[in-house]
Amino acid sequence: MNEYTVAADESTKENEHMYRRIIEYSVETIVIHRNHKILYINESGAHFFKAPKEKIVGSNVLDPFQEKDKQMIVERIRHGMSGTGPAEVIELTISRFDGTKVEVELYCHPVMFGGKKAIQTVFRDITERKEAERRLNDREKLASTGQIAAGIAHEIKNPLTSVKGFLQLLKESYSHPYLDVMDAELEKALETLINLLQVSKPDFQEEPLVSINFCKELTSLMLLFQERLYNVIVEMDLRDSEKTMLGKRNLFLKAFFNLIKNAVEAIEDKGKITIQHYYENEQIHIKVIDSGVGIPKDKLNMLGTPFFSSKSDGTGLGLTQVFTTVHEHGGIIRVESEVGHGTTFHVKLPVK
Ligand SMILES: Nc1ncnc2c1ncn2[C@@H]1O[C@H](COP(=O)(O)OP(=O)(O)OP(=O)(O)O)[C@@H](O)[C@H]1O
Ligand SMILES: [Mg+2]
Repeated sequence: MNEYTVAADESTKENEHMYRRIIEYSVETIVIHRNHKILYINESGAHFFKAPKEKIVGSNVLDPFQEKDKQMIVERIRHGMSGTGPAEVIELTISRFDGTKVEVELYCHPVMFGGKKAIQTVFRDITERKEAERRLNDREKLASTGQIAAGIAHEIKNPLTSVKGFLQLLKESYSHPYLDVMDAELEKALETLINLLQVSKPDFQEEPLVSINFCKELTSLMLLFQERLYNVIVEMDLRDSEKTMLGKRNLFLKAFFNLIKNAVEAIEDKGKITIQHYYENEQIHIKVIDSGVGIPKDKLNMLGTPFFSSKSDGTGLGLTQVFTTVHEHGGIIRVESEVGHGTTFHVKLPVK
């Protein structure tokens, strides 16, 4: 061995040492693997995957991926190993060691590890970004459907109001049972339109902002349903009851009334409704959980759209009001549901 190779070896070692330190302290999850076997994971990675390093090292890098994605990942790794072309970033959902699922973006590229070629895969948690994107989408969907609905409602309300006026005049000079039916039906139509205008344009309601204590309000709201809760067990799990938030109280009362009403209506015979309240990460969390009929997966993204209803006497405006109120206060709402088991509406409201 001549002097030159010794020097080169030492500088390679030093480089590798430095490189290891950089990735060890990186905030991103970095995994190095060869032939699908994990050889190394950094500290952030062990934290992210929710398992000790010893458990992760030696396991198969394909394990966290869903069956449907595995073949594609194998291809990526092969592509990464060849080192041709830039590493393409992909987004997908993976499972961590404790079984929780998380949305990530990742890319693979080749590295030298222990003197041999290996693959380095970088995972980045994108849950928050995705949540923000969904929030924006929800808001846009609501804003556009709301605007269209409010525009149409406004246009129809005026002619209907004059028809109602003329009908009144007609009734004064002429009596016929059909006229009463027409009057009653018109009244219903106008009521729906006024409701729609109210829920799709909550900004019109110049309600002052007041300090709201949700624990107090939820307790009194529940009393309104007492008679209908004969076969229903109600559990109130209200923690951090001193917390308050500035907001439009009447809009919130209406929103939680709508959520509880839906929960009650979802229970066909016997069942349970749980109302939870707690404070976490500067947000007030309120959950309305029922053990009712549940919502089919393909209907979940229809929730909040004006007039979407599966009930013969439903207006389908209840959730529109809920979504608009929560969004107007900078909050988000998530729904989880399983047909035959029940539904959870989770409202998160920022206190600041
Ligand atoms: N907790 C729930 N369990 C099961 N389905 C629900 C639940 N909440 C809402 N839904 C579904 O969403 C639809 C829309 O709800 P929304 O409150 O907007 O209108 P509605 O309840 O049908 O009518 P309204 O609120 O005017 O009485 C319901 O018809 C129902 O199919
Ligand atoms: Mg409803």
